[in-house]
Amino acid sequence: MQQLEWGRRYVMVRPDHFRIDYAINPFMDLADQPDPVLALEQWQHLVATIERLGGTVDVLPQRTDAPDMVYAMNLGLGLVRPGGDQHVVVSHMRYPQRRMETDTAQPWFAGLGFTTSYVGREGVGAHLEAGDAFAFGDALVVGYGPRTEKLALKHLATELGIRVRGLRITHPGMYHLDLAFCPLDSRRALVCPSALDGASAAALLELVPEPLVLTEEEALTTFCANSIVIGRTVVMPACPDRVRGQLEEWGFAVEVVDVSEFHKGGGSIRCLTNPVDVAIGRDLPSVPGGEVILPPLA
Ligand code: ARG
Repeated sequence: MQQLEWGRRYVMVRPDHFRIDYAINPFMDLADQPDPVLALEQWQHLVATIERLGGTVDVLPQRTDAPDMVYAMNLGLGLVRPGGDQHVVVSHMRYPQRRMETDTAQPWFAGLGFTTSYVGREGVGAHLEAGDAFAFGDALVVGYGPRTEKLALKHLATELGIRVRGLRITHPGMYHLDLAFCPLDSRRALVCPSALDGASAAALLELVPEPLVLTEEEALTTFCANSIVIGRTVVMPACPDRVRGQLEEWGFAVEVVDVSEFHKGGGSIRCLTNPVDVAIGRDLPSVPGGEVILPPLA
């Protein structure tokens, strides 16, 4: 079992303007607003935990007009290209309410030395939200349907020279893949098959040699798949006893960090933290020309 080598460098957005202004997922309710003081405390505790575990955090300021920007996972897909240059495929948000976030993120990434590319922008071309895309096994595993569009997979494969394995998300409450899938190491991952159609669920279970299968209820009520892994520590918003038992048996330590204020916007720990250190050629193979593997139609 090889530890994940990525997941040590994160981009996060400080929640200075976090609120619920609109509802674009089933968790958001304009009548249930986050407490700004508590939200900032929870966010700072998360940053401190990541740093204590040996991770680093680059912080991007939040736009006043972009309340969901705190969910930094969705700003773009950061990678290290063969040869070592930092690259970000900027997200093209499904909902216009979030599109201005990337107008700020792109120059910020460029200022840190990232080159950038797009699969679509300003409402034209394919939608891509980076919370749908994670390296695992021989590919970048990309969920499509509620947010990312299938067309984006082809662009990602060609632009990055990688293999992309698509999974069709059908559950309205698990609208990003990161609400249902969390790579743990080279063979293991948290997986909630009820997020996906039958063929995609089967494809994911086949891809992960040792899945820790979550029930729909575990994933939706605790956000436990929306976790991050730093070496052998899993940083989770909550951890059902059964899940903790299996993780500990596998040799992982569990750190629970309460980010309940952010659940009001429909996101948890992974959504708040964007890992930008996935390396092509190390964490997923380089495939010249790219390749897309889609599940059979259900
Ligand atoms: N309110 C945000 C949205 O609906 C939540 C994003 C959650 N992020 C994630 N990576 N799952 O877009």
